[in-house]
Amino acid sequence: MVGGVLGHRSLSIITALVASIIYSRLRKDWPNPQEMVHRHAPLGLNGTVTIVTGANSGVGLETARSMVRAGSTVILACRSAARCQAAARNIERSEATQEAPVVARILTAACELERLEEVEAFAEWVKARYARIDYLFLNAGLTGIGWHEVRFSPSGLEQRFAVNHVGHHYLTKLLKPLLTRHAVHGRSRVVVVASRSHKFSPVWEIPIQQLPSPAMLAPRSWPWTYLRDLQLYGLSKLCNILFAKQLQRRWGDDLVAISIHPGSSMNTAGGQSALLPRLWLYLVSPWAKTVEQGASTSVCAALDLTLEGGEYLDDCAVSHDTHSEVDTEARAADLWDYTENLLNLKISHS
Ligand SMILES: NC(=O)c1ccc[n+]([C@@H]2O[C@H](COP(=O)([O-])OP(=O)(O)OC[C@H]3O[C@@H](n4cnc5c(N)ncnc54)[C@H](OP(=O)(O)O)[C@@H]3O)[C@@H](O)[C@H]2O)c1
Repeated sequence: MVGGVLGHRSLSIITALVASIIYSRLRKDWPNPQEMVHRHAPLGLNGTVTIVTGANSGVGLETARSMVRAGSTVILACRSAARCQAAARNIERSEATQEAPVVARILTAACELERLEEVEAFAEWVKARYARIDYLFLNAGLTGIGWHEVRFSPSGLEQRFAVNHVGHHYLTKLLKPLLTRHAVHGRSRVVVVASRSHKFSPVWEIPIQQLPSPAMLAPRSWPWTYLRDLQLYGLSKLCNILFAKQLQRRWGDDLVAISIHPGSSMNTAGGQSALLPRLWLYLVSPWAKTVEQGASTSVCAALDLTLEGGEYLDDCAVSHDTHSEVDTEARAADLWDYTENLLNLKISHS
């Protein structure tokens, strides 16, 4: 009846308008990274050097874009050189209106985090060009939600643990001389992109050295495979938080290390691996941050000079929403030693 009076075309337009108004009301007004730059570094970041891992897509690409826009020289570190160059062109295009050309301030280099020799080659490449790094964003992340089977890195570690934690730990260690030399804006900043999903990591009585436990890696039938994927991803993200805290304790005189949660269920490539996660991202999209907004907390962690180091940030604010049983100084120290041992073993066998 209503359709008959208004005509189907008008009805569709009205429905689309109402839907877009509801959608815009539902989406919270999260800050974008530019607001963070203006608030915390109004004079810009000229003369600084930034590295972003996983810079070719999602939060990493937007973090890199914000740092370029703020005036920093940015090294895009990606596992594929071709995707890295495409990301560089993407940033050059979006920043083309700026007065100073940005091309010279965007560099690209391959860094496959699950291959320790590639991490070493990347670190050497950086050291050959720069004496100091001001901002290191350990952003790359492998979710693997929907894989249904456990995958391993070439050195035999569970792949998410290898990429999200061990590769980043190793990269930071190799870049230590460049990170502990006092930076243009004070101490260098290391921002570790963790996730609220660290809560999926079960709280175990067993020592961190025995994780992931054989029970976690055991074959499961669908849909329990999803639970396992969430637990393994969560474990790697818990490691990110513990790593940042221990890094601060160990090298905190010379750098500032902070972990962050960028936002939940943002529609990035990481969530596209299977049908169910894709459907979930579609359904929750009105409540989720945009990918650009997802970069704000990383930028905030890098630039907010009131942060002392060791904090975990969510929505650009300090959060204490972590497992109190697991997020302890002893666990963080154990994880550090365990990772160092793993690296020593892998390096001596390669
Ligand atoms: N999206 C969310 O809702 C959400 C929520 C909480 C936390 N996070 C975290 O945010 C960070 C960025 O994720 P995103 O959402 O922006 O996802 P994304 O678009 O999938 O970005 C992930 C990046 O990591 C890179 N990467 C994956 N495996 C790698 C490896 N072996 N070596 C080097 N780089 C590798 C990817 O490279 P390729 O393109 O080559 O695969 C990609 O550049 C991750 O640490 C993620 O855990 C995201």
